[in-house]
Amino acid sequence: MKTKRTGGLAGVIAGESAISTVGTEGVGLRYRGYSIHDLAEGAAFEEVAHLLIHGKLPTQTELDDYRKKLVGLRNLPDGLKTVLEQIPGDAHPMDMMRTGCSVLGTIESENETNSQFHIADRLLASFGSMLFYWHHFHTNGVRIDTNADDNTIAGHFLSLLHGQKPDALRQQALNVSLILYAEHGFNASTFTARVVTSTLSDFYSAITGAIGTLRGPLHGGANEAAMELISQFQELDDAEAKILDLLAKRELIMGFGHRVYTTSDPRSDIIKGWSQRLSEASENTVLYEVSERVEQVMWREKKLFPNLDFYSASAYHLCGIPTAMFTPLFVVSRITGWAAHVIEQRSDNRLIRPRAEYIGPDSRPFVPIAERT
Ligand code: COA
Repeated sequence: MKTKRTGGLAGVIAGESAISTVGTEGVGLRYRGYSIHDLAEGAAFEEVAHLLIHGKLPTQTELDDYRKKLVGLRNLPDGLKTVLEQIPGDAHPMDMMRTGCSVLGTIESENETNSQFHIADRLLASFGSMLFYWHHFHTNGVRIDTNADDNTIAGHFLSLLHGQKPDALRQQALNVSLILYAEHGFNASTFTARVVTSTLSDFYSAITGAIGTLRGPLHGGANEAAMELISQFQELDDAEAKILDLLAKRELIMGFGHRVYTTSDPRSDIIKGWSQRLSEASENTVLYEVSERVEQVMWREKKLFPNLDFYSASAYHLCGIPTAMFTPLFVVSRITGWAAHVIEQRSDNRLIRPRAEYIGPDSRPFVPIAERT
């Protein structure tokens, strides 16, 4: 008889949080009480960042000031640029992000004058700068100016990537995607950030650990893996045959399933809509059609639904974003949720230190090495 899998802290309540509700009704997601649907429909990502990091939705004046502040935090210190130039150009961009975050922590370390709120904003404003300074130095041999003629995070990201002002549709899509990726409860990377924080370590250490955790394909790396899968096909039937083959071999299809949601991921339909709009506006609709077929097969065969990562893959591709930058873009967004959790953990801290159930050998006598066989 098949036994239910245990472990992985599945279903365990590991602490209290006032930041988001993930699946309390099986499907819902709210940031500080606001529905993800309303935020994706009506908010700018900087409003959501302000909500998560600074605790409230900003007024128009506060938003203008906040954007001005973030624009002023895009420059990188020379010491960090030097390190970025030393990181190999063929490293994974997530390794660069992890290192960049850690190095910034040595140059602008946390102290009485450099508060956790300021560091959160600094990282939010400068992760895109780090990514593209490093990328363009190694790919095109140029040291780019990390400023851009756009006061939004989405516009900054796309402008630095493409070297020109982005078109409105792509910028809107990216804005929504950043909102959807911003926060998601005690997911693995956020939990890592809280564990690090609970030892009274510094802000950068918590975020560096979170980036390393997000990198894995069972977490943030799933959007890159999904892209690698769907980009193989020109024909829908080929995609279906491959999925059936992978399922028969009991392989995981990245971008499907979820630890908390049981029937659907509330973020998926939103990003799917944007993927469809981007697809219709482009010359090539194959990627979107392949994605839809994969979704149908996964539901028919396994009753598994796409999570946020699945349709993000085609949406990002249609925004002209290289696959290896999908998870770094997740970092640009999730820094807001991580920061909110670090701040919350510190506000009522207790060391996070669970126990393990011991399943090793019973007590046994030590045998000196000369007598061992
Ligand atoms: N593809 C194929 N089968 C999957 C699957 C997927 N993406 N996700 C879950 N399953 C299957 C498992 O193999 C398992 O089957 P079994 O009962 O026959 O052994 C069953 O569904 C339950 O999965 P389980 O591994 O217990 O779920 P989990 O809660 O531990 O894992 C994820 C959740 C998200 C890690 C898992 O769904 C997964 O690996 N998805 C792909 C990676 C991904 O998209 N990650 C991003 C998450 S937002």
